[in-house]
Amino acid sequence: MKDKVNAMSRRKFLAVSGAIAGTTLFDPKSQLLASNATAVKQNGKKTKIAVVGLGNRGTGMWGGSIVKDYSNQVEYVGLCDINPGRLEVGSQMIGANCPTFTDFEKMMRETKPDQLVVTTDDDTHDYFIDKGMEMGANIICEKPMAIDEKKIQTIIDAEKKYGKECRVTFNYRYSPHRAKMWEILRSGEIGDLTSVDFHWYLDTSHGADYFRRWHRLVEKGGSLWVHKASHHFDLLNWWIQSDPESVYALGDLEFYGKNGPFRSDKCRTCPHTKDCNFYWDITKSDRLKRLYVDNEKYDGYHRDGCVFRNDVNIHDKMAATINYMNGVQVSYSLTTYSPYEGYRIAFNGTKGRMDAWIQESNPTSDANYDEIVIARNFGRREYIQIPQGSGHGGGDRLLLNQVFIPNTPDPLKQAAGIRDGALACLVGIAARKSIESKGKVYIKDLTSIKPQEIKV
Ligand SMILES: NC(=O)c1ccc[n+]([C@@H]2O[C@H](COP(=O)([O-])OP(=O)(O)OC[C@H]3O[C@@H](n4cnc5c(N)ncnc54)[C@H](O)[C@@H]3O)[C@@H](O)[C@H]2O)c1
Repeated sequence: MKDKVNAMSRRKFLAVSGAIAGTTLFDPKSQLLASNATAVKQNGKKTKIAVVGLGNRGTGMWGGSIVKDYSNQVEYVGLCDINPGRLEVGSQMIGANCPTFTDFEKMMRETKPDQLVVTTDDDTHDYFIDKGMEMGANIICEKPMAIDEKKIQTIIDAEKKYGKECRVTFNYRYSPHRAKMWEILRSGEIGDLTSVDFHWYLDTSHGADYFRRWHRLVEKGGSLWVHKASHHFDLLNWWIQSDPESVYALGDLEFYGKNGPFRSDKCRTCPHTKDCNFYWDITKSDRLKRLYVDNEKYDGYHRDGCVFRNDVNIHDKMAATINYMNGVQVSYSLTTYSPYEGYRIAFNGTKGRMDAWIQESNPTSDANYDEIVIARNFGRREYIQIPQGSGHGGGDRLLLNQVFIPNTPDPLKQAAGIRDGALACLVGIAARKSIESKGKVYIKDLTSIKPQEIKV
Protein backbone atom coordinates (compact mmCIF):
# COMPACT_ATOMS: atom_id res chain seq x y z
CA MET A 1 0.00 0.00 0.00
CA LYS A 2 2.82 2.37 0.99
CA ASP A 3 4.53 1.65 -2.33
CA LYS A 4 1.33 2.38 -4.17
CA VAL A 5 0.94 5.73 -2.40
CA ASN A 6 4.57 6.56 -3.23
CA ALA A 7 4.07 5.59 -6.85
CA MET A 8 1.06 7.87 -7.06
CA SER A 9 2.82 10.78 -5.43
CA ARG A 10 5.74 10.35 -7.86
CA ARG A 11 3.24 11.04 -10.62
CA LYS A 12 2.21 14.37 -9.13
CA PHE A 13 2.66 17.13 -11.62
CA LEU A 14 4.00 20.57 -11.10
CA ALA A 15 0.98 22.82 -10.87
CA VAL A 16 0.91 25.95 -12.98
CA SER A 17 -1.32 28.83 -12.14
CA GLY A 18 -4.11 29.96 -14.44
CA ALA A 19 -7.59 28.93 -15.47
CA ILE A 20 -8.14 25.63 -17.26
CA ALA A 21 -11.06 26.47 -19.46
CA GLY A 22 -11.43 29.39 -21.81
CA THR A 23 -9.02 30.60 -24.44
CA THR A 24 -5.58 29.19 -24.89
CA LEU A 25 -2.57 31.14 -23.65
CA PHE A 26 -1.02 31.04 -27.10
CA ASP A 27 -2.45 32.88 -30.04
CA PRO A 28 -0.19 32.58 -33.11
CA LYS A 29 -1.31 35.92 -34.55
CA SER A 30 -0.68 37.96 -31.43
CA GLN A 31 2.66 36.20 -30.90
CA LEU A 32 3.84 37.23 -34.37
CA LEU A 33 2.84 40.83 -33.76
CA ALA A 34 4.58 40.74 -30.41
CA SER A 35 7.69 39.33 -32.04
CA ASN A 36 7.86 42.10 -34.62
CA ALA A 37 7.28 44.73 -31.98
CA THR A 38 10.07 43.44 -29.78
CA ALA A 39 12.53 42.69 -32.55
CA VAL A 40 16.01 42.77 -31.04
CA LYS A 41 19.44 41.64 -32.12
CA GLN A 42 21.65 39.58 -29.87
CA ASN A 43 24.55 41.75 -28.58
CA GLY A 44 23.53 44.29 -31.21
CA LYS A 45 24.51 41.85 -33.99
CA LYS A 46 22.39 39.69 -36.27
CA THR A 47 22.80 35.94 -35.84
CA LYS A 48 24.64 34.44 -38.82
CA ILE A 49 22.72 31.42 -40.18
CA ALA A 50 23.75 28.74 -42.67
CA VAL A 51 21.40 26.03 -43.95
CA VAL A 52 22.35 22.56 -45.22
CA GLY A 53 19.59 20.76 -47.17
CA LEU A 54 17.44 22.86 -49.52
CA GLY A 55 14.55 20.49 -50.09
CA ASN A 56 10.92 21.17 -49.23
CA ARG A 57 11.58 21.82 -45.53
CA GLY A 58 14.80 23.78 -45.94
CA THR A 59 13.23 26.14 -48.47
CA GLY A 60 9.82 26.23 -46.77
CA MET A 61 9.87 26.41 -42.97
CA TRP A 62 13.51 27.58 -42.90
CA GLY A 63 13.36 29.64 -46.08
CA GLY A 64 11.62 32.74 -47.40
CA SER A 65 9.54 33.44 -44.30
CA ILE A 66 12.70 33.78 -42.20
CA VAL A 67 14.19 36.24 -44.67
CA LYS A 68 10.91 38.19 -44.58
CA ASP A 69 9.83 37.99 -40.94
CA TYR A 70 13.09 37.74 -39.00
CA SER A 71 15.45 39.95 -41.01
CA ASN A 72 16.04 42.13 -37.92
CA GLN A 73 17.38 39.16 -36.01
CA VAL A 74 19.11 36.88 -38.50
CA GLU A 75 21.21 37.04 -41.61
CA TYR A 76 21.75 34.09 -43.99
CA VAL A 77 25.46 33.69 -44.72
CA GLY A 78 25.51 30.39 -46.63
CA LEU A 79 23.26 27.77 -48.23
CA CYS A 80 24.34 24.23 -49.09
CA ASP A 81 22.90 21.25 -50.94
CA ILE A 82 24.60 18.28 -52.53
CA ASN A 83 22.30 18.62 -55.57
CA PRO A 84 23.55 21.66 -57.56
CA GLY A 85 20.24 22.16 -59.37
CA ARG A 86 18.21 22.13 -56.15
CA LEU A 87 20.81 24.41 -54.57
CA GLU A 88 20.23 26.98 -57.29
CA VAL A 89 16.44 26.86 -57.34
CA GLY A 90 16.25 26.49 -53.53
CA SER A 91 18.35 29.59 -52.97
CA GLN A 92 16.09 31.52 -55.39
CA MET A 93 13.05 30.34 -53.41
CA ILE A 94 14.62 31.42 -50.12
CA GLY A 95 15.60 34.77 -51.59
CA ALA A 96 18.62 35.31 -49.35
CA ASN A 97 21.46 37.24 -50.89
CA CYS A 98 24.27 34.93 -49.78
CA PRO A 99 26.79 32.48 -51.29
CA THR A 100 25.79 28.89 -52.13
CA PHE A 101 27.88 25.72 -51.77
CA THR A 102 27.76 22.04 -52.72
CA ASP A 103 30.70 21.45 -50.33
CA PHE A 104 29.52 21.64 -46.71
CA GLU A 105 32.91 22.04 -45.04
CA LYS A 106 33.86 24.80 -47.49
CA MET A 107 30.68 26.64 -46.53
CA MET A 108 31.46 26.29 -42.81
CA ARG A 109 35.08 27.46 -43.29
CA GLU A 110 34.22 30.43 -45.46
CA THR A 111 31.03 31.70 -43.80
CA LYS A 112 31.60 30.84 -40.09
CA PRO A 113 27.90 30.77 -39.13
CA ASP A 114 26.75 31.17 -35.52
CA GLN A 115 23.93 28.71 -36.19
CA LEU A 116 23.71 25.85 -38.68
CA VAL A 117 20.21 24.70 -39.70
CA VAL A 118 20.22 20.97 -40.63
CA THR A 119 17.39 20.03 -43.02
CA THR A 120 18.95 17.13 -44.93
CA ASP A 121 17.78 13.50 -45.14
CA ASP A 122 17.46 11.97 -41.65
CA ASP A 123 20.42 9.56 -41.98
CA THR A 124 22.83 12.47 -42.41
CA HIS A 125 21.84 14.64 -39.41
CA ASP A 126 24.46 13.16 -37.06
CA TYR A 127 27.29 14.00 -39.47
CA PHE A 128 26.21 17.62 -39.90
CA ILE A 129 25.61 18.12 -36.16
CA ASP A 130 29.00 16.65 -35.24
CA LYS A 131 30.97 18.44 -37.99
CA GLY A 132 28.99 21.66 -37.61
CA MET A 133 29.80 21.80 -33.89
CA GLU A 134 33.46 20.96 -34.54
CA MET A 135 33.57 23.86 -37.00
CA GLY A 136 32.18 26.29 -34.43
CA ALA A 137 28.41 26.48 -34.87
CA ASN A 138 25.43 25.87 -32.63
CA ILE A 139 22.90 23.67 -34.38
CA ILE A 140 19.21 23.87 -35.17
CA CYS A 141 18.20 20.39 -36.37
CA GLU A 142 14.94 19.16 -37.83
CA LYS A 143 13.43 16.07 -36.29
CA PRO A 144 14.28 13.22 -36.14
CA MET A 145 17.65 14.07 -34.57
CA ALA A 146 19.14 10.73 -35.73
CA ILE A 147 17.96 7.34 -36.93
CA ASP A 148 19.86 4.87 -34.73
CA GLU A 149 21.44 4.67 -31.29
CA LYS A 150 25.06 4.91 -32.54
CA LYS A 151 24.33 8.16 -34.37
CA ILE A 152 22.58 9.49 -31.26
CA GLN A 153 25.63 8.65 -29.16
CA THR A 154 27.85 10.53 -31.67
CA ILE A 155 25.71 13.62 -31.11
CA ILE A 156 25.72 13.27 -27.31
CA ASP A 157 29.52 12.97 -27.41
CA ALA A 158 29.88 15.93 -29.83
CA GLU A 159 27.95 18.21 -27.48
CA LYS A 160 30.39 17.33 -24.66
CA LYS A 161 33.48 17.52 -26.88
CA TYR A 162 32.78 20.86 -28.55
CA GLY A 163 30.64 22.62 -25.90
CA LYS A 164 28.07 23.63 -28.52
CA GLU A 165 24.29 23.34 -28.38
CA CYS A 166 21.80 21.61 -30.63
CA ARG A 167 18.17 22.63 -30.68
CA VAL A 168 15.76 20.04 -32.07
CA THR A 169 12.74 21.70 -33.64
CA PHE A 170 9.75 19.78 -32.37
CA ASN A 171 7.09 22.02 -33.92
CA TYR A 172 4.27 19.69 -32.76
CA ARG A 173 4.81 20.92 -29.17
CA TYR A 174 3.78 24.40 -30.27
CA SER A 175 0.31 23.63 -31.68
CA PRO A 176 -2.06 25.58 -29.44
CA HIS A 177 -4.32 22.62 -28.56
CA ARG A 178 -1.31 20.48 -27.57
CA ALA A 179 0.06 23.30 -25.43
CA LYS A 180 -3.36 23.46 -23.76
CA MET A 181 -3.20 19.73 -23.00
CA TRP A 182 0.19 20.27 -21.36
CA GLU A 183 -1.27 23.03 -19.19
CA ILE A 184 -4.24 20.90 -18.17
CA LEU A 185 -1.99 18.00 -17.22
CA ARG A 186 0.20 20.28 -15.12
CA SER A 187 -2.86 21.79 -13.38
CA GLY A 188 -3.76 18.46 -11.75
CA GLU A 189 -7.31 18.70 -13.14
CA ILE A 190 -7.49 14.96 -13.97
CA GLY A 191 -5.50 13.96 -10.88
CA ASP A 192 -2.38 11.83 -11.18
CA LEU A 193 -1.85 10.61 -14.72
CA THR A 194 -1.80 6.82 -14.90
CA SER A 195 -2.06 5.92 -18.60
CA VAL A 196 -2.37 7.37 -22.10
CA ASP A 197 -4.16 5.98 -25.19
CA PHE A 198 -2.61 7.56 -28.31
CA HIS A 199 -3.56 6.54 -31.86
CA TRP A 200 -2.39 8.38 -34.96
CA TYR A 201 -3.91 8.00 -38.44
CA LEU A 202 -2.16 9.05 -41.67
CA ASP A 203 -4.45 9.10 -44.66
CA THR A 204 -3.99 7.60 -48.12
CA SER A 205 -2.49 10.87 -49.37
CA HIS A 206 -0.10 11.97 -46.60
CA GLY A 207 0.56 8.40 -45.41
CA ALA A 208 1.26 7.19 -48.94
CA ASP A 209 3.69 10.04 -49.53
CA TYR A 210 6.20 8.50 -47.10
CA PHE A 211 6.28 5.37 -49.28
CA ARG A 212 7.07 7.37 -52.44
CA ARG A 213 10.24 8.99 -51.04
CA TRP A 214 13.55 8.09 -49.32
CA HIS A 215 11.48 7.66 -46.15
CA ARG A 216 10.46 4.19 -47.44
CA LEU A 217 13.94 2.86 -46.55
CA VAL A 218 14.81 2.14 -42.94
CA GLU A 219 18.45 3.02 -43.59
CA LYS A 220 17.43 6.56 -44.71
CA GLY A 221 14.67 7.56 -42.28
CA GLY A 222 14.90 4.98 -39.49
CA SER A 223 11.39 3.81 -40.53
CA LEU A 224 8.21 5.65 -39.56
CA TRP A 225 8.90 4.47 -36.00
CA VAL A 226 11.58 7.18 -36.00
CA HIS A 227 10.90 9.52 -38.93
CA LYS A 228 7.24 10.12 -38.10
CA ALA A 229 6.59 8.68 -34.65
CA SER A 230 9.47 10.64 -33.04
CA HIS A 231 7.06 13.62 -33.22
CA HIS A 232 4.52 11.58 -31.26
CA PHE A 233 7.01 10.13 -28.78
CA ASP A 234 8.38 13.60 -28.12
CA LEU A 235 4.86 14.83 -27.37
CA LEU A 236 4.37 11.94 -24.95
CA ASN A 237 7.71 12.59 -23.20
CA TRP A 238 6.81 16.29 -22.89
CA TRP A 239 3.20 15.79 -21.79
CA ILE A 240 4.02 13.02 -19.30
CA GLN A 241 7.14 14.85 -18.04
CA SER A 242 8.99 11.65 -17.38
CA ASP A 243 11.44 9.62 -19.45
CA PRO A 244 10.46 6.43 -21.28
CA GLU A 245 11.71 3.30 -19.52
CA SER A 246 10.89 0.41 -21.89
CA VAL A 247 9.07 -0.46 -25.10
CA TYR A 248 7.34 -3.58 -26.42
CA ALA A 249 6.18 -3.31 -30.04
CA LEU A 250 4.57 -5.01 -33.02
CA GLY A 251 4.64 -3.89 -36.64
CA ASP A 252 4.31 -5.07 -40.20
CA LEU A 253 4.18 -4.05 -43.87
CA GLU A 254 0.83 -5.24 -45.21
CA PHE A 255 -0.43 -2.56 -47.59
CA TYR A 256 2.31 -0.68 -49.48
CA GLY A 257 5.49 -2.04 -51.08
CA LYS A 258 5.44 -5.69 -52.10
CA ASN A 259 1.71 -5.92 -51.21
CA GLY A 260 0.54 -3.79 -54.15
CA PRO A 261 -1.33 -5.34 -57.10
CA PHE A 262 1.22 -3.90 -59.58
CA ARG A 263 4.17 -1.61 -59.51
CA SER A 264 6.42 0.68 -61.50
CA ASP A 265 9.42 2.87 -60.81
CA LYS A 266 7.58 6.19 -60.57
CA CYS A 267 4.14 7.62 -61.38
CA ARG A 268 5.25 9.55 -64.47
CA THR A 269 6.36 6.43 -66.36
CA CYS A 270 3.81 4.00 -64.91
CA PRO A 271 1.63 1.87 -67.26
CA HIS A 272 -1.01 1.38 -64.50
CA THR A 273 -2.07 5.00 -63.92
CA LYS A 274 -5.73 4.33 -64.83
CA ASP A 275 -6.03 1.50 -62.31
CA CYS A 276 -4.01 2.99 -59.47
CA ASN A 277 -5.64 5.02 -56.67
CA PHE A 278 -2.19 6.33 -55.78
CA TYR A 279 -1.39 7.84 -59.18
CA TRP A 280 -0.05 11.36 -58.60
CA ASP A 281 1.11 13.89 -61.18
CA ILE A 282 3.94 15.74 -59.45
CA THR A 283 4.30 18.13 -62.40
CA LYS A 284 1.00 19.81 -61.37
CA SER A 285 2.90 21.41 -58.48
CA ASP A 286 5.22 24.03 -59.88
CA ARG A 287 7.19 24.14 -56.59
CA LEU A 288 7.77 20.37 -56.45
CA LYS A 289 8.57 20.19 -60.16
CA ARG A 290 11.21 22.91 -59.82
CA LEU A 291 12.72 21.41 -56.66
CA TYR A 292 12.76 17.74 -57.64
CA VAL A 293 11.73 16.78 -61.21
CA ASP A 294 13.96 19.38 -62.85
CA ASN A 295 16.95 18.19 -60.80
CA GLU A 296 16.67 14.40 -61.14
CA LYS A 297 19.51 14.52 -63.65
CA TYR A 298 21.95 15.26 -60.82
CA ASP A 299 21.06 12.52 -58.33
CA GLY A 300 18.43 10.23 -59.91
CA TYR A 301 16.03 10.87 -57.00
CA HIS A 302 12.33 10.54 -57.91
CA ARG A 303 10.01 12.41 -55.55
CA ASP A 304 6.99 10.63 -57.13
CA GLY A 305 8.26 7.06 -56.63
CA CYS A 306 5.79 4.15 -56.76
CA VAL A 307 4.32 3.30 -53.34
CA PHE A 308 4.36 -0.39 -54.31
CA ARG A 309 8.07 -0.71 -55.04
CA ASN A 310 9.56 -3.98 -53.80
CA ASP A 311 12.34 -2.18 -51.92
CA VAL A 312 10.00 -0.64 -49.30
CA ASN A 313 11.41 -2.01 -46.03
CA ILE A 314 9.51 -0.06 -43.34
CA HIS A 315 6.33 -0.95 -41.48
CA ASP A 316 2.99 0.54 -42.46
CA LYS A 317 1.12 -0.51 -39.30
CA MET A 318 2.67 -0.17 -35.87
CA ALA A 319 1.67 -0.61 -32.24
CA ALA A 320 3.63 -0.22 -29.02
CA THR A 321 3.27 -0.37 -25.27
CA ILE A 322 5.57 2.14 -23.61
CA ASN A 323 6.29 2.25 -19.90
CA TYR A 324 7.50 5.50 -18.33
CA MET A 325 9.89 5.91 -15.41
CA ASN A 326 7.07 7.44 -13.32
CA GLY A 327 4.81 4.44 -13.91
CA VAL A 328 2.59 5.94 -16.61
CA GLN A 329 1.86 3.39 -19.33
CA VAL A 330 1.07 4.26 -22.94
CA SER A 331 -0.79 2.39 -25.63
CA TYR A 332 0.32 3.80 -29.01
CA SER A 333 -0.43 2.99 -32.65
CA LEU A 334 0.26 4.44 -36.08
CA THR A 335 -1.70 3.56 -39.23
CA THR A 336 -0.56 4.83 -42.63
CA TYR A 337 -3.50 4.09 -44.99
CA SER A 338 -6.49 5.55 -43.22
CA PRO A 339 -9.38 7.28 -45.07
CA TYR A 340 -8.86 10.32 -42.85
CA GLU A 341 -6.00 12.04 -41.09
CA GLY A 342 -5.71 12.88 -37.42
CA TYR A 343 -5.34 11.38 -33.96
CA ARG A 344 -7.25 10.28 -30.93
CA ILE A 345 -5.76 10.72 -27.49
CA ALA A 346 -6.97 10.11 -23.97
CA PHE A 347 -5.10 10.84 -20.76
CA ASN A 348 -6.45 8.74 -17.89
CA GLY A 349 -5.98 10.12 -14.39
CA THR A 350 -7.09 9.36 -10.85
CA LYS A 351 -9.68 12.17 -10.93
CA GLY A 352 -10.87 11.95 -14.53
CA ARG A 353 -9.89 11.84 -18.15
CA MET A 354 -8.90 14.27 -20.88
CA ASP A 355 -9.84 13.30 -24.44
CA ALA A 356 -9.34 14.75 -27.90
CA TRP A 357 -10.19 13.57 -31.41
CA ILE A 358 -8.21 15.87 -33.67
CA GLN A 359 -8.93 15.62 -37.39
CA GLU A 360 -7.05 17.43 -40.12
CA SER A 361 -9.53 19.14 -42.49
CA ASN A 362 -12.61 17.17 -41.46
CA PRO A 363 -14.92 17.18 -44.53
CA THR A 364 -18.03 16.79 -42.33
CA SER A 365 -17.34 19.82 -40.15
CA ASP A 366 -16.73 23.55 -40.70
CA ALA A 367 -15.28 23.96 -37.22
CA ASN A 368 -12.10 26.00 -37.11
CA TYR A 369 -11.20 24.87 -33.63
CA ASP A 370 -9.82 21.76 -31.91
CA GLU A 371 -11.79 20.43 -28.97
CA ILE A 372 -10.50 18.97 -25.72
CA VAL A 373 -12.95 17.27 -23.35
CA ILE A 374 -12.29 16.99 -19.63
CA ALA A 375 -14.53 14.40 -17.98
CA ARG A 376 -14.35 14.33 -14.19
CA ASN A 377 -15.04 11.13 -12.21
CA PHE A 378 -18.45 11.62 -10.50
CA GLY A 379 -18.52 15.14 -11.91
CA ARG A 380 -19.32 17.29 -14.90
CA ARG A 381 -17.75 17.47 -18.36
CA GLU A 382 -16.05 20.48 -19.80
CA TYR A 383 -15.54 21.20 -23.52
CA ILE A 384 -12.62 23.45 -24.39
CA GLN A 385 -12.34 24.81 -27.91
CA ILE A 386 -8.94 25.96 -29.14
CA PRO A 387 -8.71 28.06 -32.34
CA GLN A 388 -6.69 26.39 -35.10
CA GLY A 389 -3.69 28.05 -36.74
CA SER A 390 -1.96 27.26 -40.04
CA GLY A 391 1.43 25.48 -40.42
CA HIS A 392 1.23 22.43 -38.14
CA GLY A 393 -1.70 23.98 -36.27
CA GLY A 394 0.09 27.29 -35.78
CA GLY A 395 3.08 25.53 -34.23
CA ASP A 396 5.63 26.38 -36.93
CA ARG A 397 5.28 30.13 -36.40
CA LEU A 398 5.47 29.92 -32.59
CA LEU A 399 8.55 27.73 -32.85
CA LEU A 400 10.30 30.18 -35.19
CA ASN A 401 9.52 33.06 -32.84
CA GLN A 402 11.14 31.19 -29.99
CA VAL A 403 14.18 30.19 -32.05
CA PHE A 404 14.89 33.60 -33.53
CA ILE A 405 13.61 36.17 -31.03
CA PRO A 406 16.17 36.39 -28.21
CA ASN A 407 14.86 36.01 -24.65
CA THR A 408 11.44 34.72 -25.73
CA PRO A 409 10.00 33.14 -22.56
CA ASP A 410 9.40 29.38 -22.49
CA PRO A 411 6.77 28.83 -19.78
CA LEU A 412 5.58 25.56 -21.33
CA LYS A 413 9.09 24.13 -21.71
CA GLN A 414 8.67 23.74 -25.48
CA ALA A 415 12.32 24.31 -26.38
CA ALA A 416 14.02 20.93 -26.94
CA GLY A 417 17.69 19.99 -26.92
CA ILE A 418 19.79 16.90 -27.55
CA ARG A 419 18.41 14.88 -24.63
CA ASP A 420 14.80 15.46 -25.75
CA GLY A 421 15.74 14.84 -29.39
CA ALA A 422 17.45 11.60 -28.42
CA LEU A 423 14.69 10.23 -26.19
CA ALA A 424 12.03 10.85 -28.87
CA CYS A 425 14.04 8.79 -31.38
CA LEU A 426 15.06 6.14 -28.84
CA VAL A 427 11.44 5.09 -28.25
CA GLY A 428 11.10 4.32 -31.98
CA ILE A 429 14.51 2.66 -32.14
CA ALA A 430 13.55 0.51 -29.13
CA ALA A 431 10.29 -0.38 -30.91
CA ARG A 432 12.22 -1.55 -34.00
CA LYS A 433 14.50 -3.64 -31.81
CA SER A 434 11.56 -5.05 -29.87
CA ILE A 435 9.93 -6.27 -33.09
CA GLU A 436 13.21 -7.93 -34.15
CA SER A 437 13.84 -9.55 -30.77
CA LYS A 438 10.16 -10.19 -29.89
CA GLY A 439 10.94 -8.85 -26.41
CA LYS A 440 10.86 -5.74 -24.26
CA VAL A 441 13.67 -3.23 -24.91
CA TYR A 442 14.98 -0.86 -22.22
CA ILE A 443 15.92 2.70 -23.18
CA LYS A 444 18.84 2.69 -20.70
CA ASP A 445 20.53 -0.07 -22.74
CA LEU A 446 20.75 2.01 -25.93
CA THR A 447 22.94 5.07 -25.20
CA SER A 448 24.66 6.82 -22.27
CA ILE A 449 21.40 8.63 -21.39
CA LYS A 450 20.04 7.51 -18.00
CA PRO A 451 16.24 7.80 -18.04
CA GLN A 452 14.84 9.85 -15.13
CA GLU A 453 11.57 9.57 -13.24
CA ILE A 454 10.34 13.15 -13.17
CA LYS A 455 11.57 16.07 -15.20
CA VAL A 456 11.52 19.42 -13.46
N1 LIG B 1 9.21 19.15 -38.33
C1 LIG B 1 8.48 18.77 -39.34
O1 LIG B 1 7.26 18.78 -39.25
C2 LIG B 1 9.15 18.34 -40.62
C3 LIG B 1 8.42 18.37 -41.82
C4 LIG B 1 9.07 17.96 -42.98
C5 LIG B 1 10.39 17.53 -42.94
N2 LIG B 1 11.06 17.54 -41.76
C6 LIG B 1 12.47 17.09 -41.72
O2 LIG B 1 13.26 17.97 -42.51
C7 LIG B 1 14.32 17.26 -43.14
C8 LIG B 1 14.27 17.51 -44.65
O3 LIG B 1 13.04 17.01 -45.15
P1 LIG B 1 12.54 17.35 -46.63
O4 LIG B 1 11.15 16.90 -46.72
O5 LIG B 1 12.88 18.74 -46.95
O6 LIG B 1 13.47 16.36 -47.47
P2 LIG B 1 14.03 16.56 -48.95
O7 LIG B 1 14.44 15.24 -49.45
O8 LIG B 1 13.04 17.33 -49.72
O9 LIG B 1 15.29 17.52 -48.75
C9 LIG B 1 16.53 17.09 -48.24
C10 LIG B 1 17.61 17.87 -48.95
O10 LIG B 1 18.88 17.54 -48.40
C11 LIG B 1 19.81 17.42 -49.45
N3 LIG B 1 20.93 16.56 -49.02
C12 LIG B 1 20.92 15.23 -48.76
N4 LIG B 1 22.13 14.80 -48.37
C13 LIG B 1 22.94 15.89 -48.39
C14 LIG B 1 24.33 16.10 -48.12
N5 LIG B 1 25.11 15.07 -47.76
N6 LIG B 1 24.82 17.35 -48.25
C15 LIG B 1 24.02 18.39 -48.61
N7 LIG B 1 22.71 18.26 -48.91
C16 LIG B 1 22.17 17.02 -48.80
C17 LIG B 1 19.02 16.80 -50.60
O11 LIG B 1 19.61 17.01 -51.85
C18 LIG B 1 17.70 17.55 -50.46
O12 LIG B 1 17.67 18.72 -51.20
C19 LIG B 1 14.15 15.80 -42.76
O13 LIG B 1 14.99 15.48 -41.68
C20 LIG B 1 12.69 15.71 -42.32
O14 LIG B 1 12.47 14.71 -41.36
C21 LIG B 1 10.47 17.94 -40.61
